[in-house]
Formats: sequence, structure tokens, C-alpha cells
Amino acid sequence: MDRMAFSTPPIIRRPPLPLPPPPSPPLLICLLSFLLFNLHPVTTATTATAGSIRLGIILKPTLDVPIFQEAPSFPNSETCGPDKIHVAMTLDSNYLRGTIAAVLSILQHSTCPESIEFHFLWSRFEPLVFSSIKSTFPYLNFKVYRFETQRVRGKISKSVRQALDQPLNYARIYLADIIPSDVKRVIYLDSDLVVVDDIAKLWEVELDNKVVAAPEYCHANFTKYFTDVFWSDSNLTQTFSGRKPCYFNTGVMVVDVEKWRNGGYREKVEEWMSVQKQKRIYQLGSLPPFLLVLAGDIKGVDHRWNQHGLGGDNVEGKCRSLHPGPISLLHWSGKGKPWLRLDSRKPCTVDHLWAPYDLHRSATQHLEE
Ligand SMILES: *[C@@H]1O[C@H](CO)[C@@H](O)[C@H](O)[C@H]1NC(C)=O
Ligand SMILES: *[C@@H]1O[C@H](CO)[C@@H](O)[C@H](O)[C@H]1NC(C)=O
Repeated sequence: MDRMAFSTPPIIRRPPLPLPPPPSPPLLICLLSFLLFNLHPVTTATTATAGSIRLGIILKPTLDVPIFQEAPSFPNSETCGPDKIHVAMTLDSNYLRGTIAAVLSILQHSTCPESIEFHFLWSRFEPLVFSSIKSTFPYLNFKVYRFETQRVRGKISKSVRQALDQPLNYARIYLADIIPSDVKRVIYLDSDLVVVDDIAKLWEVELDNKVVAAPEYCHANFTKYFTDVFWSDSNLTQTFSGRKPCYFNTGVMVVDVEKWRNGGYREKVEEWMSVQKQKRIYQLGSLPPFLLVLAGDIKGVDHRWNQHGLGGDNVEGKCRSLHPGPISLLHWSGKGKPWLRLDSRKPCTVDHLWAPYDLHRSATQHLEE
């Protein structure tokens, strides 16, 4: 997995500042806040917010070179009511550029951007990731939550692509346990996508008593998501009896988190992960156990809400073109990520649809030149 420029700060050509070093060593401050943060593990929204505010204040002075350009504020229109839209995403330095583009795209196309509350799940405290979000979106309504990766350690089986085996990929299984219980519905989104329509339309889809709503693909060959070991074991295949399973992508889901909790869906997905540990019943990461539990039992959503596969396949990441039809969301699932391909100067045509949402400094500076 390619690392972002994040870990290696960009080289800024300017004369050295004649200022004396800051009175307190920034490293010590980071360390202190790290310790403080870890003494109060982020499990609820309240502590997350408290932790966030403190960290924001402490860390800001050390971040004199923001890597992302600040986004403008996006005010609500007069028609907006008090209702909130809850969006959950994961957060880590590898995908930060994608997350920031996704957030910008959502705000930009929203009639009620101030009504959107973002719930970010991260596996470890990364001060620069936090301060990047804070400085890029000073007005953003968001909370961060710690996803305890121990929850999935030992449950993950090696897949065809290493990036799929990151514990954070599995965080969506625990989403309902992590976010506050007064949140009843959440839109879960991957970080390699942009929304080009008002997300309120997705938020308002009818769930018809289902636990998940997502675009379904009944023409996709469902067989290939599981191995022969699975298909030849009738004890296992009977999980699909009484439903017509269709592929759906877990990178865009509307989830009734209350139903998810009460119906024990986390446990159901975990059970399949433990079957996978014993017999290899699939090749991909966190997607197949979702299909085993939910395929054929979700509420279908218009395909415009997940134009997926733009990253190409999982092995080569070849260029793909758009499927016909209207588009509300573009998703670079697969191996290729638009920011990496744009940086390599060998982008696919579809990557130019992602570029306008890229707030990364080197990208914007390049445009200004
Ligand atoms: C679906 O995929 C399986 C396994 O790869 C293959 O054997 C089968 O022929 C495919 N079916 C169709 C209709 O393409
Ligand atoms: C299926 O389940 C039955 C009863 O639990 C068991 O006897 C049988 O060995 C199982 N078959 C396979 C292929 O695991």
C-alpha cells in the first residue's frame, strides 16, 4: 500500500524563520496529549468531543504547514429543518486525502450541509489526521471514535489484496456498537468516493424493515464471491435458502443501526469470519461475510448511488469507464486510487472526476501555477 505524502512533510522552499524555538517542545506536547487521550479511551461521543477539543487546541500551533487547503463554509439553506443526517466513515493517514475529498463533495452538493454529522472511526490516535480535518473544515460537525482493532485481530483472514486486510476495513461491522445509541440510522461510506448529489436523497430512502439499504447487482455472477469449498458444503450454502442473493457493495450502505444491534448482526458476520478461519470459503476481505448474512435480504437502492469499481479490479487496478445512467456517487473501489494515479501522472479518465474535490496542497498549488 502506497503511503501518502503525509508521513513525509512537503519541502517548503522559504528562508528559515528567525524565531526562537517554541517555548515547549511540540513532541512533548504530542506525547502528553497522546497519553491523556489514551487514559480516556474514546468510546462515547461525549468523551470523543472532549478529547477532540483539547487536542485541537494543543496541537494547532505545531501544525504551521497545513497539507490541505481550507474548505469554505457551507451554510444550510432556509428550508432546512432540525433533523440530522448521520454519515460514518473511517479515518486514517493512508486514506486521508480520499476522506477529505469525500467530505468536501458531500458538503458541496448538500442543501443542508450543516445538518450533516460525520462520525469518524479510527483505529489509533493520529494527531496530524485530526488536525488536518479540523483545519480543512473548521465548521464541520464531526466526532471521532476509537475502533478497538483487538476486536478483529485473529478474525481476519488473508485476502487477495493486502489493503483489504486492514482492521479498519472491518470497522463497519462494529459501527452500530460504536456510535451513540440515540443515532438510529447511519450512512456508511468508504473513503475512496465522491458524492455528486444531495446526500439527503440517500438518507431518506425507505428501508422497508430491512437492516441495510444499498444498490443491488443481481446480474453480477454471485458464485465467484465464494470458493468451491463453500459451494460444495450444503450446510454452508443453506444460509441462502429462502433468499435470492445478489451482490452489493459494502462501501455505500444505509444502515438501521438499531435493528443491526437488536438483531445481533455483528455476531452473525463474526460467525462467518470464524468459519472462514477454518475453511477458506471466500477470497476477499470484509465484503463476503456481509453477503453471507445480508445478500438477498437488503433494500435495493437506485444504482446511481454507487458507481463502483472505478479503481479497477483488485489485482491490477486497470482503468474502467463509467456505466451508463445517472450518477449520484462515484466510487473508486478496487486497487487503483485516483489520488495515487493522478500523482503518478498516469491517471485514468475517470480520475479527472475526482480531482475537483482534491484539497491536497500540492494539487492545488499545481493548479495555481
Ligand atoms: C459464474 O462464476 C463461476 C465461478 O467463477 C463460473 O463457474 C460460472 O460459469 C459463472 N457463471 C456464469 C453464468 O457466468
Ligand atoms: C453437515 O451437518 C451435519 C449435521 O450437523 C454433519 O453431520 C455433516 O458432517 C455436515 N456436513 C459437512 C460437509 O460438514
